[in-house]
Amino acid sequence: MSEGLVTVSYIGATILFILALGGLSHPETSRRGNAYGITGMIIAILATVLGPEVSVIGIVIACMLIGGTIGLILALKVQMTQMPELVAILHSLVGIAAVLVGFVNFMDPDAALQFSGAEKTIHEIEIYLGVLIGAVTFSGSVIAFGKLSGKISGNPLILPARHWINLGLLILSIWLCFEFMDQAQAGGGVIPLLIMTAIALAFGVHMVMAIGGADMPVVISMLNSYSGWAAAATGFMLSNDLLIVTGALVGSSGAILSYIMCRAMNRNFIGVIAGGFGTESAGTAGTSSDQGEVFPIEFEEVSDLLTAAREVMIIPGYGMAVAQAQHTVRDITKTLRDKGVNVRFGIHPVAGRMPGHMNVLLAEARVPYDIVFEMSEINDDFPAIDVTIVVGANDIVNPDALEDPNSPIAGMPVLECWKGKTSIVLKRSMASGYAGVQNPLFFKDNTRMFFGDAKNSLDSVLAEIAK
Ligand code: TAP
Repeated sequence: MSEGLVTVSYIGATILFILALGGLSHPETSRRGNAYGITGMIIAILATVLGPEVSVIGIVIACMLIGGTIGLILALKVQMTQMPELVAILHSLVGIAAVLVGFVNFMDPDAALQFSGAEKTIHEIEIYLGVLIGAVTFSGSVIAFGKLSGKISGNPLILPARHWINLGLLILSIWLCFEFMDQAQAGGGVIPLLIMTAIALAFGVHMVMAIGGADMPVVISMLNSYSGWAAAATGFMLSNDLLIVTGALVGSSGAILSYIMCRAMNRNFIGVIAGGFGTESAGTAGTSSDQGEVFPIEFEEVSDLLTAAREVMIIPGYGMAVAQAQHTVRDITKTLRDKGVNVRFGIHPVAGRMPGHMNVLLAEARVPYDIVFEMSEINDDFPAIDVTIVVGANDIVNPDALEDPNSPIAGMPVLECWKGKTSIVLKRSMASGYAGVQNPLFFKDNTRMFFGDAKNSLDSVLAEIAK
Protein backbone atom coordinates (compact mmCIF):
# COMPACT_ATOMS: atom_id res chain seq x y z
CA MET A 1 0.00 0.00 0.00
CA SER A 2 1.45 3.38 -1.00
CA GLU A 3 2.18 6.18 1.48
CA GLY A 4 -0.63 8.27 -0.05
CA LEU A 5 -3.21 5.52 0.36
CA VAL A 6 -2.15 4.98 3.95
CA THR A 7 -2.65 8.69 4.66
CA VAL A 8 -6.11 8.67 3.08
CA SER A 9 -7.03 5.55 5.08
CA TYR A 10 -5.81 7.20 8.29
CA ILE A 11 -7.94 10.27 7.62
CA GLY A 12 -10.95 8.03 6.93
CA ALA A 13 -10.34 6.07 10.15
CA THR A 14 -9.99 9.32 12.15
CA ILE A 15 -13.33 10.57 10.84
CA LEU A 16 -14.94 7.23 11.68
CA PHE A 17 -13.53 7.36 15.23
CA ILE A 18 -14.95 10.85 15.73
CA LEU A 19 -18.33 9.68 14.40
CA ALA A 20 -18.10 6.68 16.74
CA LEU A 21 -17.65 8.94 19.76
CA GLY A 22 -20.60 11.06 18.62
CA GLY A 23 -22.75 7.94 18.18
CA LEU A 24 -21.80 6.49 21.56
CA SER A 25 -23.02 9.60 23.35
CA HIS A 26 -26.66 8.44 23.13
CA PRO A 27 -28.18 4.97 23.61
CA GLU A 28 -30.29 5.30 20.47
CA THR A 29 -27.26 5.92 18.25
CA SER A 30 -24.77 3.78 20.17
CA ARG A 31 -25.03 0.73 17.88
CA ARG A 32 -24.26 2.93 14.89
CA GLY A 33 -21.39 4.49 16.85
CA ASN A 34 -20.01 1.04 17.56
CA ALA A 35 -20.21 0.11 13.87
CA TYR A 36 -18.29 3.27 12.94
CA GLY A 37 -15.64 2.43 15.52
CA ILE A 38 -15.24 -1.16 14.30
CA THR A 39 -14.99 -0.05 10.66
CA GLY A 40 -12.47 2.66 11.57
CA MET A 41 -10.35 0.16 13.47
CA ILE A 42 -10.38 -2.38 10.60
CA ILE A 43 -9.27 0.34 8.17
CA ALA A 44 -6.60 1.51 10.63
CA ILE A 45 -5.20 -1.98 11.14
CA LEU A 46 -5.19 -2.84 7.43
CA ALA A 47 -3.56 0.46 6.45
CA THR A 48 -0.88 0.03 9.13
CA VAL A 49 -0.12 -3.62 8.44
CA LEU A 50 -0.12 -3.24 4.66
CA GLY A 51 1.67 0.13 4.76
CA PRO A 52 5.31 0.75 3.78
CA GLU A 53 6.54 0.80 7.41
CA VAL A 54 5.97 -2.94 7.86
CA SER A 55 8.64 -5.06 6.22
CA VAL A 56 8.07 -8.48 7.86
CA ILE A 57 4.35 -8.94 7.52
CA GLY A 58 4.47 -12.63 8.57
CA ILE A 59 5.51 -11.80 12.14
CA VAL A 60 2.85 -9.09 12.42
CA ILE A 61 0.10 -11.45 11.24
CA ALA A 62 1.29 -14.21 13.58
CA CYS A 63 1.24 -11.80 16.55
CA MET A 64 -2.19 -10.52 15.54
CA LEU A 65 -3.53 -14.06 15.35
CA ILE A 66 -2.20 -14.91 18.81
CA GLY A 67 -3.48 -11.66 20.35
CA GLY A 68 -6.77 -11.84 18.48
CA THR A 69 -7.40 -15.42 19.60
CA ILE A 70 -6.71 -14.58 23.26
CA GLY A 71 -9.02 -11.54 22.95
CA LEU A 72 -11.76 -13.60 21.32
CA ILE A 73 -11.63 -16.31 23.99
CA LEU A 74 -11.72 -13.67 26.74
CA ALA A 75 -14.61 -11.81 25.13
CA LEU A 76 -16.64 -15.01 24.78
CA LYS A 77 -15.92 -16.11 28.33
CA VAL A 78 -16.32 -12.87 30.23
CA GLN A 79 -19.52 -12.33 32.20
CA MET A 80 -21.25 -8.95 32.02
CA THR A 81 -20.39 -8.43 35.70
CA GLN A 82 -16.69 -8.93 34.91
CA MET A 83 -16.62 -6.24 32.20
CA PRO A 84 -15.21 -3.50 34.47
CA GLU A 85 -12.21 -5.58 35.46
CA LEU A 86 -11.71 -6.66 31.83
CA VAL A 87 -11.64 -3.00 30.80
CA ALA A 88 -9.13 -2.28 33.59
CA ILE A 89 -6.80 -5.06 32.50
CA LEU A 90 -7.07 -3.96 28.86
CA HIS A 91 -5.97 -0.48 29.92
CA SER A 92 -2.93 -2.06 31.51
CA LEU A 93 -2.00 -3.59 28.13
CA VAL A 94 -2.00 -0.14 26.50
CA GLY A 95 0.30 1.01 29.31
CA ILE A 96 2.76 -1.85 28.99
CA ALA A 97 2.76 -1.43 25.19
CA ALA A 98 3.80 2.22 25.61
CA VAL A 99 6.61 1.18 28.00
CA LEU A 100 7.90 -1.51 25.62
CA VAL A 101 7.72 0.73 22.55
CA GLY A 102 9.59 3.40 24.54
CA PHE A 103 12.42 1.05 25.45
CA VAL A 104 12.62 -0.45 21.97
CA ASN A 105 12.71 3.03 20.47
CA PHE A 106 15.42 4.03 22.91
CA MET A 107 17.55 1.00 22.05
CA ASP A 108 16.95 1.21 18.27
CA PRO A 109 20.31 2.20 16.69
CA ASP A 110 18.56 3.52 13.54
CA ALA A 111 16.39 5.88 15.57
CA ALA A 112 19.53 7.35 17.16
CA LEU A 113 20.98 8.11 13.73
CA GLN A 114 17.67 9.36 12.32
CA PHE A 115 17.45 12.40 14.60
CA SER A 116 19.83 15.17 15.51
CA GLY A 117 19.73 18.50 17.36
CA ALA A 118 16.30 19.67 18.55
CA GLU A 119 14.56 16.71 16.89
CA LYS A 120 16.69 14.29 18.93
CA THR A 121 15.84 16.14 22.15
CA ILE A 122 12.13 16.02 21.32
CA HIS A 123 12.39 12.32 20.50
CA GLU A 124 14.03 11.64 23.87
CA ILE A 125 11.34 13.59 25.71
CA GLU A 126 8.73 11.55 23.84
CA ILE A 127 10.40 8.33 24.97
CA TYR A 128 10.69 9.50 28.56
CA LEU A 129 7.08 10.68 28.79
CA GLY A 130 5.76 7.65 26.91
CA VAL A 131 7.46 5.25 29.31
CA LEU A 132 6.38 7.33 32.33
CA ILE A 133 2.68 7.51 31.37
CA GLY A 134 2.72 3.89 30.19
CA ALA A 135 4.21 2.59 33.44
CA VAL A 136 1.74 4.54 35.64
CA THR A 137 -1.16 3.31 33.47
CA PHE A 138 0.10 -0.27 33.59
CA SER A 139 0.58 -0.66 37.34
CA GLY A 140 -2.45 1.52 38.22
CA SER A 141 -4.68 -0.56 35.96
CA VAL A 142 -3.41 -3.84 37.37
CA ILE A 143 -4.28 -2.65 40.89
CA ALA A 144 -7.66 -1.33 39.67
CA PHE A 145 -8.27 -4.79 38.15
CA GLY A 146 -7.44 -6.37 41.52
CA LYS A 147 -9.77 -4.03 43.39
CA LEU A 148 -12.66 -4.43 40.96
CA SER A 149 -12.42 -8.20 40.92
CA GLY A 150 -12.22 -8.34 44.70
CA LYS A 151 -8.70 -9.83 44.64
CA ILE A 152 -7.39 -6.75 46.44
CA SER A 153 -9.32 -5.14 49.30
CA GLY A 154 -11.31 -2.02 48.35
CA ASN A 155 -10.09 -0.31 51.53
CA PRO A 156 -7.67 2.53 50.91
CA LEU A 157 -4.04 1.93 51.82
CA ILE A 158 -3.00 5.02 53.70
CA LEU A 159 0.75 5.32 54.08
CA PRO A 160 2.02 7.95 56.50
CA ALA A 161 3.07 11.14 54.65
CA ARG A 162 1.62 9.77 51.41
CA HIS A 163 1.37 13.22 49.84
CA TRP A 164 5.05 13.83 50.55
CA ILE A 165 5.92 10.45 49.07
CA ASN A 166 4.01 11.36 45.87
CA LEU A 167 5.67 14.78 45.71
CA GLY A 168 9.10 13.20 46.26
CA LEU A 169 8.49 10.72 43.43
CA LEU A 170 7.41 13.54 41.11
CA ILE A 171 10.50 15.65 41.85
CA LEU A 172 12.74 12.60 41.44
CA SER A 173 11.15 11.82 38.06
CA ILE A 174 11.75 15.39 36.84
CA TRP A 175 15.38 15.24 37.95
CA LEU A 176 15.82 11.85 36.28
CA CYS A 177 14.40 13.33 33.06
CA PHE A 178 17.26 15.86 32.96
CA GLU A 179 19.76 13.10 33.76
CA PHE A 180 18.31 10.95 30.99
CA MET A 181 18.53 13.76 28.45
CA ASP A 182 22.12 14.53 29.45
CA GLN A 183 23.27 10.95 29.27
CA ALA A 184 21.32 10.22 26.07
CA GLN A 185 23.39 12.89 24.27
CA ALA A 186 26.43 10.72 24.97
CA GLY A 187 24.68 7.51 23.92
CA GLY A 188 23.70 6.42 27.45
CA GLY A 189 20.66 7.08 29.64
CA VAL A 190 19.37 3.60 30.29
CA ILE A 191 19.91 3.78 34.08
CA PRO A 192 17.78 6.94 34.67
CA LEU A 193 15.14 5.51 32.30
CA LEU A 194 15.01 2.25 34.26
CA ILE A 195 14.90 4.01 37.65
CA MET A 196 12.10 6.29 36.42
CA THR A 197 10.17 3.24 35.16
CA ALA A 198 10.42 1.63 38.59
CA ILE A 199 9.28 4.90 40.22
CA ALA A 200 6.35 5.27 37.80
CA LEU A 201 5.28 1.67 38.46
CA ALA A 202 5.42 2.29 42.22
CA PHE A 203 3.50 5.56 41.80
CA GLY A 204 0.71 3.81 39.83
CA VAL A 205 0.38 1.17 42.56
CA HIS A 206 0.39 3.73 45.37
CA MET A 207 -2.06 6.08 43.62
CA VAL A 208 -4.75 3.44 43.12
CA MET A 209 -4.14 1.62 46.42
CA ALA A 210 -4.73 4.90 48.30
CA ILE A 211 -8.15 5.43 46.77
CA GLY A 212 -11.20 4.33 48.73
CA GLY A 213 -13.80 2.01 47.21
CA ALA A 214 -16.39 4.72 46.68
CA ASP A 215 -14.02 6.79 44.56
CA MET A 216 -13.10 3.96 42.17
CA PRO A 217 -15.33 5.31 39.33
CA VAL A 218 -13.07 8.34 39.05
CA VAL A 219 -9.97 6.14 38.99
CA ILE A 220 -11.41 3.98 36.24
CA SER A 221 -12.23 6.93 33.99
CA MET A 222 -8.87 8.49 34.80
CA LEU A 223 -6.98 5.32 33.84
CA ASN A 224 -9.07 5.24 30.68
CA SER A 225 -7.78 8.73 29.95
CA TYR A 226 -4.18 7.76 30.80
CA SER A 227 -4.36 4.80 28.44
CA GLY A 228 -5.30 7.27 25.67
CA TRP A 229 -2.35 9.51 26.45
CA ALA A 230 -0.07 6.46 26.61
CA ALA A 231 -1.30 5.48 23.12
CA ALA A 232 -0.74 9.05 21.88
CA ALA A 233 2.79 8.98 23.30
CA THR A 234 3.36 5.67 21.49
CA GLY A 235 2.10 7.38 18.32
CA PHE A 236 4.70 10.13 18.73
CA MET A 237 7.47 7.60 19.28
CA LEU A 238 6.46 5.64 16.18
CA SER A 239 5.65 8.79 14.16
CA ASN A 240 2.19 7.36 13.55
CA ASP A 241 -0.34 10.18 13.10
CA LEU A 242 -3.40 7.99 13.48
CA LEU A 243 -2.20 6.62 16.81
CA ILE A 244 -1.56 10.17 18.02
CA VAL A 245 -5.07 11.30 17.03
CA THR A 246 -6.76 8.16 18.38
CA GLY A 247 -4.81 8.35 21.64
CA ALA A 248 -5.75 12.00 22.02
CA LEU A 249 -9.43 11.19 21.40
CA VAL A 250 -9.39 8.46 24.07
CA GLY A 251 -7.31 10.62 26.42
CA SER A 252 -9.56 13.65 26.17
CA SER A 253 -12.84 11.72 26.29
CA GLY A 254 -11.52 9.87 29.35
CA ALA A 255 -10.65 13.21 30.93
CA ILE A 256 -14.19 14.51 30.24
CA LEU A 257 -15.60 11.30 31.73
CA SER A 258 -13.44 11.77 34.83
CA TYR A 259 -14.82 15.29 35.16
CA ILE A 260 -18.42 14.00 34.79
CA MET A 261 -17.75 11.30 37.39
CA CYS A 262 -16.25 13.82 39.81
CA ARG A 263 -19.22 16.14 39.35
CA ALA A 264 -21.66 13.23 39.81
CA MET A 265 -19.95 12.24 43.04
CA ASN A 266 -19.34 15.80 44.21
CA ARG A 267 -15.62 15.13 44.36
CA ASN A 268 -12.59 17.21 43.59
CA PHE A 269 -10.46 15.48 40.94
CA ILE A 270 -7.11 16.37 42.51
CA GLY A 271 -8.51 15.38 45.90
CA VAL A 272 -9.42 11.92 44.65
CA ILE A 273 -6.08 11.37 42.94
CA ALA A 274 -4.26 12.49 46.06
CA GLY A 275 -6.33 9.93 47.97
CA GLY A 276 -8.03 12.65 49.97
CA PHE A 277 -11.58 11.33 49.80
CA GLY A 278 -13.26 8.08 50.63
CA THR A 279 -10.32 7.39 52.87
CA GLU A 280 -10.30 9.11 56.22
CA SER A 281 -13.44 7.77 57.78
CA ALA A 282 -13.90 4.24 56.52
CA GLY A 283 -14.01 3.15 60.13
CA THR A 284 -17.21 5.08 60.88
CA ALA A 285 -19.41 2.74 58.86
CA GLY A 286 -22.38 1.63 60.92
CA THR A 287 -23.35 -1.96 61.49
CA SER A 288 -26.70 -3.50 60.80
CA SER A 289 -27.36 -4.16 64.47
CA ASP A 290 -27.13 -0.59 65.75
CA GLN A 291 -29.63 0.94 63.34
CA GLY A 292 -32.92 -0.62 64.41
CA GLU A 293 -35.35 -3.00 62.84
CA VAL A 294 -35.92 -3.88 59.20
CA PHE A 295 -39.31 -4.76 57.69
CA PRO A 296 -39.15 -7.75 55.35
CA ILE A 297 -41.77 -8.17 52.63
CA GLU A 298 -42.91 -11.07 50.43
CA PHE A 299 -43.70 -11.14 46.73
CA GLU A 300 -47.53 -11.13 47.09
CA GLU A 301 -47.42 -7.86 49.01
CA VAL A 302 -44.91 -6.39 46.57
CA SER A 303 -47.22 -7.28 43.69
CA ASP A 304 -50.20 -5.68 45.46
CA LEU A 305 -48.25 -2.49 46.12
CA LEU A 306 -47.10 -2.29 42.49
CA THR A 307 -50.47 -2.88 40.90
CA ALA A 308 -52.12 -0.38 43.25
CA ALA A 309 -49.50 2.30 42.48
CA ARG A 310 -49.83 5.10 39.96
CA GLU A 311 -46.17 6.17 39.95
CA VAL A 312 -43.38 3.60 40.16
CA MET A 313 -39.65 4.29 40.03
CA ILE A 314 -37.08 1.55 39.46
CA ILE A 315 -33.53 2.13 40.68
CA PRO A 316 -31.15 -0.49 39.29
CA GLY A 317 -27.75 -1.11 40.86
CA TYR A 318 -24.87 -3.53 40.72
CA GLY A 319 -27.04 -6.37 42.11
CA MET A 320 -29.23 -6.22 38.99
CA ALA A 321 -26.13 -6.94 36.92
CA VAL A 322 -25.10 -9.80 39.23
CA ALA A 323 -28.57 -11.35 39.15
CA GLN A 324 -29.00 -10.62 35.40
CA ALA A 325 -32.47 -9.42 36.33
CA GLN A 326 -32.78 -6.79 33.59
CA HIS A 327 -35.06 -8.88 31.37
CA THR A 328 -37.48 -9.57 34.22
CA VAL A 329 -37.34 -5.88 35.10
CA ARG A 330 -38.32 -5.09 31.51
CA ASP A 331 -41.23 -7.56 31.62
CA ILE A 332 -42.50 -6.15 34.92
CA THR A 333 -42.24 -2.64 33.49
CA LYS A 334 -44.25 -3.63 30.43
CA THR A 335 -46.92 -5.43 32.47
CA LEU A 336 -47.33 -2.48 34.82
CA ARG A 337 -47.40 0.05 31.99
CA ASP A 338 -50.07 -2.01 30.26
CA LYS A 339 -52.09 -1.70 33.46
CA GLY A 340 -51.73 2.10 33.34
CA VAL A 341 -48.97 2.49 35.94
CA ASN A 342 -46.38 5.13 35.08
CA VAL A 343 -43.05 3.31 35.44
CA ARG A 344 -39.76 5.18 35.15
CA PHE A 345 -36.11 4.38 35.80
CA GLY A 346 -33.70 6.49 37.84
CA ILE A 347 -30.06 5.96 36.93
CA HIS A 348 -27.25 7.05 39.20
CA PRO A 349 -24.08 8.01 37.28
CA VAL A 350 -21.92 5.56 39.28
CA ALA A 351 -24.44 2.72 39.60
CA GLY A 352 -22.84 -0.65 38.92
CA ARG A 353 -19.14 -0.95 38.28
CA MET A 354 -18.49 1.01 35.10
CA PRO A 355 -19.75 4.23 33.52
CA GLY A 356 -23.08 3.62 31.81
CA HIS A 357 -23.31 0.08 33.26
CA MET A 358 -27.06 0.26 33.97
CA ASN A 359 -27.87 1.94 30.65
CA VAL A 360 -26.11 -0.89 28.83
CA LEU A 361 -28.10 -3.54 30.73
CA LEU A 362 -31.42 -1.78 30.18
CA ALA A 363 -30.65 -1.22 26.50
CA GLU A 364 -29.77 -4.92 26.20
CA ALA A 365 -33.18 -5.78 27.68
CA ARG A 366 -34.81 -3.29 25.28
CA VAL A 367 -36.28 -1.03 27.94
CA PRO A 368 -37.57 2.07 26.08
CA TYR A 369 -35.05 4.93 26.36
CA ASP A 370 -37.71 7.54 27.01
CA ILE A 371 -38.54 6.15 30.46
CA VAL A 372 -34.91 5.98 31.58
CA PHE A 373 -33.80 9.15 33.40
CA GLU A 374 -30.56 10.49 34.81
CA MET A 375 -30.53 11.08 38.57
CA SER A 376 -30.47 14.86 38.10
CA GLU A 377 -33.62 14.69 35.96
CA ILE A 378 -35.82 12.77 38.39
CA ASN A 379 -34.44 13.25 41.90
CA ASP A 380 -37.01 15.96 42.69
CA ASP A 381 -39.88 13.67 41.68
CA PHE A 382 -39.61 11.18 44.55
CA PRO A 383 -42.23 12.82 46.83
CA ALA A 384 -44.78 11.96 44.12
CA ILE A 385 -43.65 8.33 43.75
CA ASP A 386 -45.86 5.62 45.23
CA VAL A 387 -43.42 2.71 45.03
CA THR A 388 -39.69 2.71 44.37
CA ILE A 389 -38.06 -0.63 43.61
CA VAL A 390 -34.37 -0.66 44.40
CA VAL A 391 -32.97 -3.58 42.41
CA GLY A 392 -29.63 -4.56 43.95
CA ALA A 393 -28.52 -0.99 44.59
CA ASN A 394 -27.01 0.15 47.86
CA ASP A 395 -24.47 3.02 47.96
CA ILE A 396 -26.37 5.06 45.38
CA VAL A 397 -29.46 5.20 47.64
CA ASN A 398 -27.65 5.74 50.94
CA PRO A 399 -29.08 8.74 52.88
CA ASP A 400 -25.85 8.93 54.90
CA ALA A 401 -24.16 10.43 51.85
CA LEU A 402 -26.27 13.55 52.50
CA GLU A 403 -26.76 13.32 56.25
CA ASP A 404 -23.53 12.01 57.79
CA PRO A 405 -20.49 14.21 57.11
CA ASN A 406 -18.24 11.43 58.47
CA SER A 407 -19.45 8.84 55.99
CA PRO A 408 -16.87 7.74 53.39
CA ILE A 409 -19.43 8.63 50.73
CA ALA A 410 -20.37 11.99 52.32
CA GLY A 411 -21.22 14.61 49.73
CA MET A 412 -22.04 12.16 46.93
CA PRO A 413 -25.49 12.96 45.51
CA VAL A 414 -27.78 9.92 45.81
CA LEU A 415 -31.24 8.94 44.58
CA GLU A 416 -33.51 10.15 47.39
CA CYS A 417 -36.08 7.36 47.19
CA TRP A 418 -36.93 7.52 50.91
CA LYS A 419 -38.85 10.73 50.10
CA GLY A 420 -41.40 8.62 48.21
CA LYS A 421 -44.26 6.69 49.79
CA THR A 422 -42.67 3.21 49.91
CA SER A 423 -39.25 1.88 48.92
CA ILE A 424 -38.80 -1.84 48.29
CA VAL A 425 -35.16 -2.91 48.43
CA LEU A 426 -34.17 -6.13 46.68
CA LYS A 427 -31.00 -7.74 47.97
CA ARG A 428 -29.87 -11.05 49.37
CA SER A 429 -28.73 -10.03 52.84
CA MET A 430 -27.90 -7.01 54.96
CA ALA A 431 -24.39 -6.88 53.45
CA SER A 432 -22.98 -3.46 52.59
CA GLY A 433 -22.33 -2.22 49.07
CA TYR A 434 -19.07 -1.40 47.30
CA ALA A 435 -18.11 1.43 49.66
CA GLY A 436 -18.44 -0.94 52.63
CA VAL A 437 -20.87 1.24 54.59
CA GLN A 438 -24.20 0.32 56.16
CA ASN A 439 -27.30 1.93 54.71
CA PRO A 440 -29.88 3.62 56.98
CA LEU A 441 -32.42 3.44 54.13
CA PHE A 442 -32.97 -0.22 55.02
CA PHE A 443 -34.14 0.73 58.51
CA LYS A 444 -36.58 3.48 57.56
CA ASP A 445 -40.29 3.04 58.38
CA ASN A 446 -41.31 3.35 54.75
CA THR A 447 -38.72 0.82 53.48
CA ARG A 448 -39.47 -2.86 52.94
CA MET A 449 -36.67 -5.38 52.47
CA PHE A 450 -37.37 -7.99 49.80
CA PHE A 451 -34.62 -10.54 50.48
CA GLY A 452 -33.36 -12.97 47.84
CA ASP A 453 -31.65 -13.04 44.47
CA ALA A 454 -33.10 -10.11 42.50
CA LYS A 455 -33.99 -12.25 39.47
CA ASN A 456 -35.77 -14.93 41.50
CA SER A 457 -37.61 -12.33 43.56
CA LEU A 458 -38.71 -10.38 40.49
CA ASP A 459 -39.72 -13.54 38.63
CA SER A 460 -42.19 -14.34 41.39
CA VAL A 461 -43.51 -10.77 41.33
CA LEU A 462 -43.90 -10.92 37.56
CA ALA A 463 -45.86 -14.18 37.77
CA GLU A 464 -48.14 -12.61 40.37
CA ILE A 465 -48.85 -9.30 38.61
CA ALA A 466 -49.33 -11.02 35.24
CA LYS A 467 -52.17 -13.18 36.67
P1 TAP B 1 -23.40 -1.46 45.52
O1 TAP B 1 -23.36 -0.34 46.48
O2 TAP B 1 -22.16 -2.22 45.26
O3 TAP B 1 -24.54 -2.45 46.04
C1 TAP B 1 -24.92 -3.56 45.30
C2 TAP B 1 -25.89 -4.38 46.14
O4 TAP B 1 -26.40 -5.39 45.31
C3 TAP B 1 -25.22 -5.06 47.31
O5 TAP B 1 -25.59 -4.43 48.52
C4 TAP B 1 -25.68 -6.52 47.23
O6 TAP B 1 -26.30 -6.88 48.47
C5 TAP B 1 -26.73 -6.48 46.14
N1 TAP B 1 -26.67 -7.68 45.31
C6 TAP B 1 -25.59 -8.32 44.81
N2 TAP B 1 -25.96 -9.40 44.13
C7 TAP B 1 -27.31 -9.45 44.19
C8 TAP B 1 -28.27 -10.35 43.67
N3 TAP B 1 -27.93 -11.42 42.94
N4 TAP B 1 -29.57 -10.10 43.92
C9 TAP B 1 -29.95 -9.04 44.66
N5 TAP B 1 -29.07 -8.16 45.18
C10 TAP B 1 -27.77 -8.37 44.93
O7 TAP B 1 -23.95 -1.01 44.10
P2 TAP B 1 -24.56 0.38 43.61
O8 TAP B 1 -25.62 0.84 44.54
O9 TAP B 1 -24.87 0.15 42.18
O10 TAP B 1 -23.39 1.42 43.76
C11 TAP B 1 -22.23 1.35 42.98
C12 TAP B 1 -21.00 1.39 43.86
O11 TAP B 1 -19.89 0.91 43.11
C13 TAP B 1 -20.66 2.79 44.32
O12 TAP B 1 -20.06 2.77 45.58
C14 TAP B 1 -19.64 3.22 43.26
O13 TAP B 1 -18.80 4.24 43.73
C15 TAP B 1 -18.89 1.93 43.07
N6 TAP B 1 -18.18 1.84 41.78
C16 TAP B 1 -18.79 2.28 40.66
C17 TAP B 1 -18.11 2.24 39.47
C18 TAP B 1 -18.78 2.83 38.26
S1 TAP B 1 -17.88 3.56 37.17
N7 TAP B 1 -20.07 2.76 38.12
C19 TAP B 1 -16.83 1.68 39.39
C20 TAP B 1 -16.25 1.18 40.57
C21 TAP B 1 -16.95 1.28 41.76
P3 TAP B 1 -26.36 -8.42 48.92
O14 TAP B 1 -24.98 -8.94 48.88
O15 TAP B 1 -26.97 -8.37 50.29
O16 TAP B 1 -27.26 -9.11 47.95
